[in-house]
Amino acid sequence: MQAWMPPHDYRGRPVAVLGAGVLGRRIGCIWASGGYDVLIRDPSEQQRADGIAYIQENVSLYAPKTGKMPGKAEVVEGMKTAVENAWLVIEAVPEKIQLKIDTFAELEAHAPNDCILASNSSSYKSSEMLEKVSDARKSRILNMHYYMPPQCMIVELMTDGHTDQRIFPFMVEKSKEVATLPYVARKESTGFIFNRLWAAVKREALTILAEGVSVPEEIDSMWTEMFVKGGSTPCKNMDAVGLDMIAFIEAHYIKERNLPSDKTVDFLEKNYLHCGKLGNKSPKGGLYTSVENRASMTKAYDARGPRILALDVGLSAATPTLKSGEIVELTTDGKLQRVLVKSQSLPDGIAVDPSSGRIFWACMGAPGKNDGAIYSASADGTYIQTVLAPGIVNTPKQMTIDISSKKIYFCDREGLRVYRCDFHGSDLEVLIDNGRCDGDSCDAAKWCVGITVAPSLGKFYWSQKGPSKGGKGRLFCANMTTPEGHSATSRNDIQCILDNLPEPIDLEIDEQSRTLYWTDRGEIPLGNSLNRAELNESGLVEPGPSGRRYEIVTRHLKEAIGLKLDLDHGAIYVTDLGWWQRLSLQFGWLQGGNSLE
Ligand SMILES: *[C@@H]1O[C@H](CO)[C@@H](O)[C@H](O)[C@H]1NC(C)=O
Ligand SMILES: *[C@@H]1O[C@H](CO)[C@@H](O)[C@H](O)[C@H]1NC(C)=O
Ligand SMILES: *[C@@H]1O[C@H](CO)[C@@H](O)[C@H](O)[C@H]1NC(C)=O
Ligand SMILES: *[C@@H]1O[C@H](CO)[C@@H](O)[C@H](O)[C@H]1NC(C)=O
Repeated sequence: MQAWMPPHDYRGRPVAVLGAGVLGRRIGCIWASGGYDVLIRDPSEQQRADGIAYIQENVSLYAPKTGKMPGKAEVVEGMKTAVENAWLVIEAVPEKIQLKIDTFAELEAHAPNDCILASNSSSYKSSEMLEKVSDARKSRILNMHYYMPPQCMIVELMTDGHTDQRIFPFMVEKSKEVATLPYVARKESTGFIFNRLWAAVKREALTILAEGVSVPEEIDSMWTEMFVKGGSTPCKNMDAVGLDMIAFIEAHYIKERNLPSDKTVDFLEKNYLHCGKLGNKSPKGGLYTSVENRASMTKAYDARGPRILALDVGLSAATPTLKSGEIVELTTDGKLQRVLVKSQSLPDGIAVDPSSGRIFWACMGAPGKNDGAIYSASADGTYIQTVLAPGIVNTPKQMTIDISSKKIYFCDREGLRVYRCDFHGSDLEVLIDNGRCDGDSCDAAKWCVGITVAPSLGKFYWSQKGPSKGGKGRLFCANMTTPEGHSATSRNDIQCILDNLPEPIDLEIDEQSRTLYWTDRGEIPLGNSLNRAELNESGLVEPGPSGRRYEIVTRHLKEAIGLKLDLDHGAIYVTDLGWWQRLSLQFGWLQGGNSLE
């Protein structure tokens, strides 16, 4: 390829601006203020007069600090006069396709061969505009888009698809010389860079107004607080929030509005989340990878080390109410670090999605009422979202996540059901349906309480605890895929794997060794224990040689409920539901210090 040369002796040649309108005269003023001679061409006498008056009166305001003597500015009527010696022609003629085509044809005829041609067009493809222009000329044409100088000195530069890449460093330098702020779009893009950003803001602001959700004054006031006073910027803000969280929220809109996901969630997953770039909280950074930007956050995160998330049902609060529940964070040696979420209505189940670090938890609400709910929050307890609002399920208990299908499984005790839904609460399915409670009489043998899922076996397991200390507890399993042609009430794949247990509660499974663990808060000697049973390849329990079907791992617990396996560290966490003077905790999940990454 031939060496690219700037236009010959460009300092001694004028800049031509086509169009003396509101924008054209300002563009002329910019170049004049940087010491270049400027010729503005406009067929209208009035525009020419107004244009030159503008420059004469305002040129000194444009770039007082360049220290340059303003160049000479003139207005002309004819195209040839304007461009015949120009090193740069900027066309700012109205956005009419025929006018643009004719303009470029005239430039082809009259502008010097080494002249750089800039079009302010953003709504036409260059192929439509440049039909009468030679290929050699096309490589010296680019898009240049000014906003409203002198208030906004941004200028965007963009290829027209044929532009010689070597033009850009040169034009960036020249733009800086005349005190504008150049930004180069890396590709051809309708609307350049800023207008696309602005388009998104306008679109959503108008949609909010159209839906009657807010009023202009409040939208502007919130914007000011957030972005003007707060100094927030979009990409840094996303890194601060966490790209996992951003993807999570975006997925919600995608679903609700039926939007494509390729350029948002898929883009984030492929390029950031899958490589452990979650934003400031990851050592690898996020959209920004610069060390400075995330150093402080990373340090704070790493210093936290492994942690335990636990649920405090709130019964030990000074004045216990239905709203005293909390999610707390503890160190592995049991020190309370902080409260992540407050004012929960009898929280019971908790699970964490390891890929996003997002916490999901279930609130029982008032047992017997259809006011149970499921929520989620980011790892630090912020950005709480409602997964299932009150009014859908009764008393959600233990929950578990199937990472592969991104589904939540949970039991509903007084609802007598097992459910499954996605992370946003959509596609809620009843998997097991044990009928209905009849007013106050409710058969505890049908209460579904603990749950775990084993994708490798294609099964989920749940407990039906039976009456308190009643020795009627059972463990069941069923296929993750409901048998064809069956429903929750008719399915024929439910198997009771163990029965007559004291009072089994939470379940966990180690899929690798095919071992099912569960807590039991039933009567001693067998109750208040941690238990396990080996499963065979079908995921079922086979009696051992002595007829024994399961093993008691440990006994003498006090109202054993919560259970979590930390397989990486060979640990099992169990909680006792204490009495009034004990802090009542249910351990939810133990997380290694770096596993969020
Ligand atoms: C100079 O700029 C100011 C501010 O934009 C404007 O009000 C004024 O009309 C300009 N002068 C002329 C002669 O156009
Ligand atoms: C280009 O300039 C013309 C004339 O000032 C204006 O009407 C048009 O909106 C400008 N185009 C863009 C994309 O700003
Ligand atoms: C349950 O799943 C197992 C293993 O995938 C399969 O062999 C069996 O046919 C399924 N049962 C029913 C009733 O679909
Ligand atoms: C697993 O155990 C069940 C119940 O004892 C039995 O029916 C089944 O055949 C066993 N499956 C395998 C693969 O051994």
